[in-house]
Amino acid sequence: MTRTALIMAACLAALASPAPAQNSPPNGTITSNDTASVSVSALTDSILRVRVVKTGSEAPEDASWAVSSAVRGKSVKVRRVPGGFQTGSLSVRIDPATLRLTVADLEGRTIVDDVSGSMSFEGSRFTLRKAMPTGEQYYGLGDKTGPFNRRGASYVNWTTDAWGFDRATDPIYKSIPFYIATGGPGGAYGLFLDNTWRSAFDFGHRDQNVLEISADGGPIDYYVVAGPTVADVVRRYTDLTGKAPLPPRWGLGYQQSRYSYMNATEVREIANRLRADRIPTDVIWLDIDFQDRNRPFSTNTKTFPDLKELARDVGKDGFKLVAITDLHIAHAPNEGYAPYDSGIAGDHFLKNPDGSLYVAPVWPGPSVFPDFTRKASRDWWGGLYKPFVDDGIAGFWNDMNEPAIFETPTKTMPLETVHRIDDDGFAPRTANHSEVHNVYGMENGRATYEGLLKLRPNVRPFVMTRAMFAGGQKFAVTWTGDNNSTWDHLKLAVQQMLNLGLSGVAWSGADIPGFIGGASPELATRWYEIAAFTPIYRGHAANDAPRAEPWIDGPEHLAIRRRYIGERYRLMPYLYAVAEQNARTGDPFMRPTFYDYPELAKAPCDQSMAFTLGRDLLVAPSPKPESTYAYNVCMPGPGWFDYWSGLPVLGERKPDAPFEVVRETPTLDRLPVFVRGGAIVPRQPLTQTTSVMPNGPLELHVYPGQDCSGQLYWDDGVSIRGDSLRQTVRCTLGKDGIMLHFDKREGSFRPWWKQIAVTVHGWTGPAKVRGVAGVETDAERRTVRFVIPDQKRASDFVLSRF
Ligand code: GLC
Repeated sequence: MTRTALIMAACLAALASPAPAQNSPPNGTITSNDTASVSVSALTDSILRVRVVKTGSEAPEDASWAVSSAVRGKSVKVRRVPGGFQTGSLSVRIDPATLRLTVADLEGRTIVDDVSGSMSFEGSRFTLRKAMPTGEQYYGLGDKTGPFNRRGASYVNWTTDAWGFDRATDPIYKSIPFYIATGGPGGAYGLFLDNTWRSAFDFGHRDQNVLEISADGGPIDYYVVAGPTVADVVRRYTDLTGKAPLPPRWGLGYQQSRYSYMNATEVREIANRLRADRIPTDVIWLDIDFQDRNRPFSTNTKTFPDLKELARDVGKDGFKLVAITDLHIAHAPNEGYAPYDSGIAGDHFLKNPDGSLYVAPVWPGPSVFPDFTRKASRDWWGGLYKPFVDDGIAGFWNDMNEPAIFETPTKTMPLETVHRIDDDGFAPRTANHSEVHNVYGMENGRATYEGLLKLRPNVRPFVMTRAMFAGGQKFAVTWTGDNNSTWDHLKLAVQQMLNLGLSGVAWSGADIPGFIGGASPELATRWYEIAAFTPIYRGHAANDAPRAEPWIDGPEHLAIRRRYIGERYRLMPYLYAVAEQNARTGDPFMRPTFYDYPELAKAPCDQSMAFTLGRDLLVAPSPKPESTYAYNVCMPGPGWFDYWSGLPVLGERKPDAPFEVVRETPTLDRLPVFVRGGAIVPRQPLTQTTSVMPNGPLELHVYPGQDCSGQLYWDDGVSIRGDSLRQTVRCTLGKDGIMLHFDKREGSFRPWWKQIAVTVHGWTGPAKVRGVAGVETDAERRTVRFVIPDQKRASDFVLSRF
């Protein structure tokens, strides 16, 4: 604990007494009355931590699974004002009589305010109440279903195995008690309740204008993350809970899975078919049937006689293997099953209150469960990966970690199950499952991630988890679980991924074309198209669903799907730069349109399916993806381009409107995608896997417009420490042409390209580039194309008409 945190804790404890009082540590204020004591401290000028202790109760320990002690220990000095304090950007007031907390900006515009009766207690339960200004909208809460904007709905945070969920199912797999409010008078803010117990967020469902936050137990410990923009909030929330590390580049490739590819021969056939049909792919997944009797960390040696050889053989063709390793260890005493034996020897499994081993059925039958909130048990778990890493398995999949338990109505373990906590600032102690349930899956992912790091310290781990708590992005990517092959699920998947991105989890995917039920060829094709622009691009289907690989519906559908999968590979330099940006800033990979273009928040189009990929690409499927009716796409201002034709978009624009409207009539082979005028988008020649070097120059597509720039980022795609390159390319528009400017390259990584092929879009008339021969124009496409050597130094190219 830092000195400031110690002072705060001491003050909190001292002030949990009835006499109204206010106390002023250097970074905030502590106010108490006969109900409670409220401490508000400023971690930064824009992040406040609020801790409340009911009068007469003991102050909880200063510990967290989501926010590291280094971050919790941050503080800035505040300026005292009557009734509260100010930071460099916020004004905080707390009424000593009612404990009402009001946070405003320095101009007095309210950001978040309590309503009367702002807190209540009932045994260990508490409820907080915040105002919901008219027009404010709510996003976040991870993968939750329901309406995209959460206003009017209520949700429970309790990680749950939700096989076959639909739009009304709640709770589902993840618990991320963080929402973002946008559209209120003081701009956007986020609120993160750092409490792992079963909690609930009610956005005006029970009481129209009241946002209720409650939990069954645990500390009242929450953070207000101020904007004013949604992007500010997401970046700061990921400062608080951690950035997602850059995944290996192959994680951006197409991934082929099924529950299950049943034997090594089938895996080889799938690999051969993918290459024969020229479907670019990086990964093939091994689901539970590769194991011996569904036992994690075992292999069925009859069907998969030599995993190492299989990994090596498909590896020669550019495929990686990712294998499932669920957390339930088979309860198999005296059978020579090493994970059980070593787990028992090290005392790594959860117990019943009477001290006996907790045993319950999952895929392997009776199973035992590692104690992931214990460091020693996480370390032991991490070591179980060694033989598989040695065999060349490239990534791992942690499923069923809500944790899922079969044959019980609660779908999970009894709340009395005993965990031992011994890390992250917590005093070593036992805790029951009510406290640990929501973080159990995240700690499973963490154990895997940290274990892989220990085994291969300079290789980026690739871990996929189903359950997650806030901050889980530091350890694993995720997917949306067992969805259905329906049109509404396609729409839901987009919205879930968008809300996950706003909740700090940029790396998500949804099973294409839905896990359960089988998709029509049209639905599957549309799903392949849209998912090509989402973070994790994985085909997966249930064991009782019809086959769902891209070729299944015949050559016409395959041709479309191949084109979109290929487009993703062509876009790899852009995608990779967006990925790296996420690792650095927290900006999601796919974003709601209002993220980069707040002016679109009030645009008159149904944008419930539209999203941007990075700032520069706008992906605009029909908001009713099953419909063939025309629909409107709203674009932020004029000057956008059609991604496919490269031609300027001619939309309609009302005078003074900050957006432009384009009408689209759906056809199955076209997913509308648009590019910002002012974008410089790097692309590459098509490859069948990310592990081969593209053949030809790097392509730079310049779409002239305001704020004209693009980013190059490249490295070897797998190492954690190693060379990289980063370079900004800009363009400026003059009367007679365009100047293309390369900033000096940072970093010494030597990329695959030796040349850069520049295509400038929206050009008419003749063209000349000083010092460059072979400049080609295309009147129909309205492009100019020229090839230059790779540019490491700062350099300029002037494209003119004369
Ligand atoms: C769960 C997973 C699914 C997987 C299956 C078998 O249902 O969500 O993706 O295929 O278990 O492991």
